[in-house]
Amino acid sequence: MNICVIPGDGIGPEVMAVATDALRRLAPDLTLVEAEAGWGVFQRTGTALPETTLAIAREATAILFGAVASPSYPVPGYRSPIVELRRTLDLYANIRPTTGPGVDLVIVRENTEDLYSGRERLEDDGNTAIAERVITRNASARIVRTACELARTRQTTGHPGKVTIVHKANVLRVSDGLFRTVAFEIAADYPELSFEERLVDVAAMQLAAQPQRFDVIVTTNLFGDILSDIACIHGGGLGVAASSNLGQDRALFEPVHGAAPDIAGRGIANPTAALNCVVMLLDWLNRPQAADHLRRAIAAVATAGICTPDVGGEATTREVADAILEQLTIQP
Ligand code: NAI
Ligand code: MG
Repeated sequence: MNICVIPGDGIGPEVMAVATDALRRLAPDLTLVEAEAGWGVFQRTGTALPETTLAIAREATAILFGAVASPSYPVPGYRSPIVELRRTLDLYANIRPTTGPGVDLVIVRENTEDLYSGRERLEDDGNTAIAERVITRNASARIVRTACELARTRQTTGHPGKVTIVHKANVLRVSDGLFRTVAFEIAADYPELSFEERLVDVAAMQLAAQPQRFDVIVTTNLFGDILSDIACIHGGGLGVAASSNLGQDRALFEPVHGAAPDIAGRGIANPTAALNCVVMLLDWLNRPQAADHLRRAIAAVATAGICTPDVGGEATTREVADAILEQLTIQP
């Protein structure tokens, strides 16, 4: 069974080196196949997501993705490879859990459309920029259904079975209006769950101030991107937060964080988010013992206070990694 590993740019390779070490120990039968994507490969070859990478990703059972650095200005021919991968492989559901003291919530973010559809253009001699927001009935229905199924599964382990539908339909009446309408149509199929709706700005405030009131949040692509960075504060920050991108029978696992150019190369990136991606991958592969083993190792090392500066410690990436790998040598 092949796992495609895409380290990417910045701290991506630093944290993925730790993730692959852990994965090799916990699942030695898996074949890890490394592939390139991102700004570095774009600068060398003119493409951010080479065909060879796409071929390896398609062949693989699952993908582990580090992070890529995308410029914040137009570059002819450059498109964000993670956005491309999600769309090309139809990894339509971005699942972003946060757990912390009193907090246990999951953001379910639509992953294939919205303002991330890449329909941007300049008009008026470059003085007007237009981005098209694409919301479809199909994509909205399947993401809300994914959220409902997740809420139902969580209900069996004591969660409240509550789905919060987040939108801005009071302003975006047509696009988010469609998302909202479809969401409530799907909700009707789940009488055992409770539903509420929130405008995205209020949802952001409540997510910051009262995260314990949320169970499962379902929303469109851009809102989900922003809300998941807010949510992860309650779980230890960006250095800890992991996510899965699920398609019909394929999955990609990636930290919520990006390439962190401000700390890249300094050996202090927190590898926990990448390791939590391995936990999610092992769970998805239906290997709960290996997943639990790693989950416990991560928790034990955090409890021992061995952690990187972003979470208040003084350890390096390598020191945290070694402490966790050491725990993995102990039989579960
Ligand atoms: P970022 O997530 O890379 O960094 C935000 C802040 O969090 C920085 O101060 C960084 O040092 C810190 N941080 C992030 N991960 C950390 C870790 N593992 N350990 C310790 N500290 C960590 O977001 P930023 O700076 O806005 O974006 C940097 C680049 O990353 C951009 O080029 C952006 O396009 C890209 N990016 C890529 C993503 C992806 O590949 N999925 C997601 C988000 C951003
Ligand atoms: Mg983001």
